[in-house]
Amino acid sequence: MVIQKTINMENIQSIKQRFGIIGNDIGLNRAIEKSIQVAPTDISVLITGESGVGKEVFPKIIHQLSHRKHGKFIAVNCGAIPEGTIDSELFGHEKGAFTGATQTRSGYFEVADGGTIFLDEVGELPLTTQVRLLRVLENGEFIKVGSSNVQKTNVRIVAATNIKMFDAIKKNKFREDLYYRLSTVEIEIPALRKRNQDIHLLFRKFSSDFALKYKMPTIRLDAKAINLLQNYRWPGNVRQLRNFSEQISVLESKREIDFNTIKNYLPDMGPQLPAIIQNEEEKTNFSNEREILYKVLFDMKNDLNDLKKLTLDLMENGNYKEVHEKNEQIIKKINREKNSNNHINENRLLTFSDANKKNETFEILKNEEEFDFNDDYEEEIKETLSLHDKELELIKKSLERHKGKRKLAAEELGISERTLYRKIKQYDL
Ligand SMILES: Nc1ncnc2c1ncn2[C@@H]1O[C@H](COP(=O)(O)OP(=O)(O)OP(=O)(O)O)[C@@H](O)[C@H]1O
Ligand SMILES: [Mg+2]
Repeated sequence: MVIQKTINMENIQSIKQRFGIIGNDIGLNRAIEKSIQVAPTDISVLITGESGVGKEVFPKIIHQLSHRKHGKFIAVNCGAIPEGTIDSELFGHEKGAFTGATQTRSGYFEVADGGTIFLDEVGELPLTTQVRLLRVLENGEFIKVGSSNVQKTNVRIVAATNIKMFDAIKKNKFREDLYYRLSTVEIEIPALRKRNQDIHLLFRKFSSDFALKYKMPTIRLDAKAINLLQNYRWPGNVRQLRNFSEQISVLESKREIDFNTIKNYLPDMGPQLPAIIQNEEEKTNFSNEREILYKVLFDMKNDLNDLKKLTLDLMENGNYKEVHEKNEQIIKKINREKNSNNHINENRLLTFSDANKKNETFEILKNEEEFDFNDDYEEEIKETLSLHDKELELIKKSLERHKGKRKLAAEELGISERTLYRKIKQYDL
């Protein structure tokens, strides 16, 4: 037993060297050990852990230590492939299966026969694709899109996710049966804050890499600065630490870095704060902002629909009296708003006022909304534009907060990743 352990520790160290993994944390070692143990089998493995913890190297370790190492290793980012093409990417398609399918094409499951497929961000797979995947996992069978021929393949699947799969199952976004098939063995990579003894080690490694890359002396931290890093929350985990080390290496002219210098680089750090848990106030304000904006947008959309309906009725009917009778409710609503001093939606805003007394955005919106409905509709355009600005700002903020990770930003904004993607394109972000 003792000998077995020694062998494993040696193995773990050599795997770290071979795959460039830094750290001695017990949870990290356990994850590597599990990978070594499971590699020679064909068991499906699910790698879990927050964004940026270092999941991506584990499927490679498993493939390299398996009898499939001379076979193909294909990594697929399930979150990055559009829903309409993912089945064809994974399982291939027949010529003429859909517009643009000018030739029969093999999918990854055919190409990787005898090898390993790494399904990254597996939680993002559409439900229809999940059904196909379940079948491959159960009996190695799949069917190309547009075909009726059942094909066989021998592929080992290693998947990774940074979302809570049970939440996705509860929301009916992920099939429970598939989850259990995928996670025959689950390897959890601990968050960086839970392996804080590794933080300085990682920082030193990254700093020396960047010093080499940018041809400059390596930066060093004083004791207080190290302590700060070890107590910081690192929501973006190792990825964030790496970026942080790069920023300081490049932007700071001095090479001895102290507490005061680094705290300016860490989001969520107040001027005097030591270790920090997530900035709850900021979070709350952010969600208030979002709620207000969505409510305003929603109400504007309703107003616009009312106006459209009135205009269309007038155009089609031409009889003002009849239109008036037919749309009595809408007209009453408009008059009500006009009578209340021509302030659009003042009541609506007042309902938010208590909850948002300290909220700057509320003030801005309130000022912007105080215009006369009888004025040119230029004002309305101005408001719409300003709402677009706000939306843009929210999206930017959220993307920044999550280091460009669309999935997390979309979750925070309460919209789907695809909607966020559309907005990023729309705003040219
Ligand atoms: N222990 C480690 N040693 C050295 N580098 C690491 C370690 N862990 C992570 N990294 C580096 O941190 C970065 C992020 O890791 P990785 O891409 O594997 O994250 P992830 O867990 O897949 O995140 P996501 O869920 O967001 O895809 C990579 O550049 C990776 O090389
Ligand atoms: Mg990843």
